[in-house]
Amino acid sequence: MLVLETEICGIKMRNPTMLAAGVLGTTAASLNWASKSGAGAVVTKSFSIEPNRGYPNPTTVEVTGGFINAVGLSNPGVEAFTLELKKLEGSAPVVVSIYGSNPEEFGRLATKIGGMADMIELNVSCPHAVGGCGASIGQDPDLTAEVVKTVKNVIKTPISVKLTPNVTDIVEIAVASQKAGCDAITLINSLGPGMRIDIETAHTILHNKFGGLSGPAIKPIALRCVYDVYEAVNVPLIGVGGIKDYMDVVEFLFAGASCVQIGTAIYYDGLKIFRDICIGLERFMNRKGYQSVKEMVGITHNYD
Ligand SMILES: Cc1cc2nc3c(=O)[nH]c(=O)nc-3n(C[C@H](O)[C@H](O)[C@H](O)COP(=O)(O)O)c2cc1C
Repeated sequence: MLVLETEICGIKMRNPTMLAAGVLGTTAASLNWASKSGAGAVVTKSFSIEPNRGYPNPTTVEVTGGFINAVGLSNPGVEAFTLELKKLEGSAPVVVSIYGSNPEEFGRLATKIGGMADMIELNVSCPHAVGGCGASIGQDPDLTAEVVKTVKNVIKTPISVKLTPNVTDIVEIAVASQKAGCDAITLINSLGPGMRIDIETAHTILHNKFGGLSGPAIKPIALRCVYDVYEAVNVPLIGVGGIKDYMDVVEFLFAGASCVQIGTAIYYDGLKIFRDICIGLERFMNRKGYQSVKEMVGITHNYD
């Protein structure tokens, strides 16, 4: 599958797919499994300085076109997570996702694990985080820039900042992130928050009432975010949101993503989705005469 090889921020990938943050990435075993299943890179669950129990169940509910989740960024904290990272044995590069409630916490986390990651992804975009974490940072261009600057000052590892679509103008936040020195931008975290109600009991289904929407329903919005941000920045983009097959991957590449992440589709198709996508993508590239993934990136901008 040589034709699928690509790179982002100098990190070599055997294909342009990554496991998305929060989907199976809490343990070394699950990350190793995704790597062995063919993911081009794996992203860990977002983790914080202290352990976080997250929200009580139910944390996930199916809706038309995907899921709503309010897991609440549950994770074992940086000390325990560092031990997991030492057990990684997959061949795919590892992107470590971190979150905090202020720039200083991001800086402390990055200092601690920067040397164990091929890339750090800054989660400033969770739509259901509490305590000043998540989207309350990513909706503010100055605060987002401050987080990026702080992390950039303490580590050499490339950083990607993961943005929320739940803003008036995502391009403004992307430009501020680039000015602050990020190496890449991941677009998008889950959309919303949204909700569901159980009509038998009249209670909200999720314990947290509201959660982030993911899955095929958000793909057109994610794609538009990638397309718009591509026109405004020079750093590479990582596309995520609703990708379920090779055709979705092609759309994201054409819109301007250098590589993509896959989350919710794994609940439907399992980890074999990475190989299925690669087979489909390679056939498509052969049929259309593309020699490399790189030459596909952003080409829709040449036509429209
Ligand atoms: C159950 C679940 C947990 C998630 N946890 C995280 C997380 O810890 N950190 C993060 O940045 N994104 C998290 N996400 C968001 C995904 O990484 C992704 O951005 C989003 O789901 C859209 O992609 P998809 O439609 O392929 O799932 C989570 C998504 C789901 C469904």
